[in-house]
Amino acid sequence: MTTSETTDTRPRCPMAPPEFDPLSEAALRDPASMYTTAREKSPVFWSDLIQSWVFTRYDDVFRYLNEPELFGTPVEGQITVPDEFVDRFSPELPSKMMTAMDPPVHTPPKKAVQQGFLRPNILKLEPRITARANALIDEMIAAGTECDLMTSYSDPLTMHTLMGLLDLPMEEAEAIWNLGESSIRVLSSSQIPMDEPERSQVWRAYVEGQEHLYQIIDERTANPGDDIISIMAAQLDDEGRPALTRERIAQHIAEIAFAGHDTTAQLMTNMVIYLSEHRDQLALAVDNPKLWPNVVEETLRRRPSAPFAARRALRDVVVSGIQIRKGDNVWFALASASNDPAHYDNPVEFDVQRRRPMDHVAFGRGPHTCPGAPLGRSQAAIGVRTLFERLPDLRVADDYSLDFAPLVIIPKRNSLQVHWTSPRH
Ligand code: HEM
Repeated sequence: MTTSETTDTRPRCPMAPPEFDPLSEAALRDPASMYTTAREKSPVFWSDLIQSWVFTRYDDVFRYLNEPELFGTPVEGQITVPDEFVDRFSPELPSKMMTAMDPPVHTPPKKAVQQGFLRPNILKLEPRITARANALIDEMIAAGTECDLMTSYSDPLTMHTLMGLLDLPMEEAEAIWNLGESSIRVLSSSQIPMDEPERSQVWRAYVEGQEHLYQIIDERTANPGDDIISIMAAQLDDEGRPALTRERIAQHIAEIAFAGHDTTAQLMTNMVIYLSEHRDQLALAVDNPKLWPNVVEETLRRRPSAPFAARRALRDVVVSGIQIRKGDNVWFALASASNDPAHYDNPVEFDVQRRRPMDHVAFGRGPHTCPGAPLGRSQAAIGVRTLFERLPDLRVADDYSLDFAPLVIIPKRNSLQVHWTSPRH
């Protein structure tokens, strides 16, 4: 947040309703629930908590995510490389994160990254996902009849898939995890500043994590494989020169590390909760496995893993009758839009047979639409299908605790207790 914004005391109306509290019990159980009244009465409201306008209606979210000239993601000048790292890390690099650029500069790197998620690349990873899913379930069965699904299954399966995408050995997993964590903190520092010693620690992890990848990127540039690092290194611009420098590739890997992990792991765990609570819907997917992709989509619609997309107004604009000023922060409430009764019949019903299952905004829309969606979809469908095939009566514990990291912008589930009785070996 810049100084001018923190001292901006203009009155903002309408204000957030009292139930807009992402860490309340009701919102942790169902994030969409905190928008029900607002969407009808004040579909655009101001939240002091997140210092942002919040857009709640499907129509506004869909329309304005597709208008990057009105709502952009610029962090230019807002993320400063600390003095101790400027010799090692170019000060212009933070503004070259994919999530921090707007078209047209955003378009070529986005295209380069998307090449790594084309159908053949995903198909190649699917046997690996299935094999790892079964190995993790073997370990769960060997350990008893209950476990914490996040740490025993959703997190490790997702990390294993990511390492396959990058074609890196599992010994590198911790380094990639740390790189992803530091990356999200650096990105969010444009809104939530860091103090010492956190600032130096985070930047050291971020810079060293990327330097560690330089040699690997050089090797893949010289001897390309078919992994996403090689694919990014092989992309050429219109003049036939490499589209991305080694430093830019390392930074995009850092983004992939943070954007690709929690989103998919949380999705799988959310699927298990919905199916455990709606056994009729589980029975439909078991009887007709073609419905597993619909389970993925319906879960994403009801509970998007990324509950919002953040932007800044680049011009003055009126949205649903409310004046938004240039420079104001805006939070596109994906969890609200995907549950808007003006767009969906019975939006709170979990229905794996919806006619247009992919009609939701859980992967965003417009230029920043998630490039990893094909991988997230594939892993979640395989992962949860395999889980219920091996553990058909798997259930979430009746008294499962709402164990979330207390992050207002993205409350992240730490654990989920599940149990079963009759495994299939
Ligand atoms: C099912 C799981 C996933 C969900 C729900 C999800 C959701 C999202 C959303 C909503 C955005 C757009 C944010 C915005 O507009 O500001 C996004 C962007 C992004 N996602 Fe995903 N994602 C998932 C999986 C993945 C995976 C598996 C990867 C990579 C391995 C990935 C990589 C990215 C990247 C790099 C961006 C930034 C794109 C850009 O700024 O142009 N995501 N994701």
